[in-house]
Amino acid sequence: MSDRQEHWDSVYRSRQADELSWFQAEPTMSLELIRALRPAPTSMVDVGAGASVLADHLLDDGIDAVTIVDISDQALDNVRERLDHRVGASIVVADVLTWTPTRTWDLWHDRAVFHFLTDADDRAGYVATAARAVNPGGAVVLGCFAADGPTQCSGLPVVRYGAEDLAACFSPGFGLERAADELHHTPGGATQHFTWVVMRRGSSSE
Ligand SMILES: C[S@@+](CC[C@H](N)C(=O)[O-])C[C@H]1O[C@@H](n2cnc3c(N)ncnc32)[C@H](O)[C@@H]1O
Repeated sequence: MSDRQEHWDSVYRSRQADELSWFQAEPTMSLELIRALRPAPTSMVDVGAGASVLADHLLDDGIDAVTIVDISDQALDNVRERLDHRVGASIVVADVLTWTPTRTWDLWHDRAVFHFLTDADDRAGYVATAARAVNPGGAVVLGCFAADGPTQCSGLPVVRYGAEDLAACFSPGFGLERAADELHHTPGGATQHFTWVVMRRGSSSE
């Protein structure tokens, strides 16, 4: 088991999912951005999904296929309890930095994972995987700590982003279509500023 996997498994072992700083009873911003996509995606991968209920909502909406990926098997136990027998749901334990997806999707979603990539080669590898995994015309919906957001999460350093910075990381393969700000309220009562982007594969002018 890698150090990264060990780290995240121990995080999910140490607390209940609804006690973790990133917990959301309702993934409001993700749902707003995804439900506004045209054409509506018929398949989605949620990268670093943790225990999130985003997939449950999208399956309720009628999306055909949702793949839920996380480095932590422990985190995915929460998801298995809810979605193991649900038609259209697939659960994958994988490190996005070494993962080779075996299919493609209309939508790649990431809330609070990309910002942990402090190494430029890791960021480039992540973007290359996303570019291979997203269908032409498909979208990436991604949320990260904003420029005035926290400097670390779970004891790990993060990179903080404005929308243009995020778009630059994904250019020229993806073009920025929409940006949004969010103030996340943690279960512990703190607020965290997030930057959200919607980027479209193949819509860059380069
Ligand atoms: C801050 S949490 C966010 C969880 C979820 N996206 C949400 O919004 O509730 C980060 C998640 O990314 C996962 N993660 C961290 N590094 C990863 C990697 N390299 N590959 C896959 N998952 C990773 C962690 O296990 C954790 O579940």
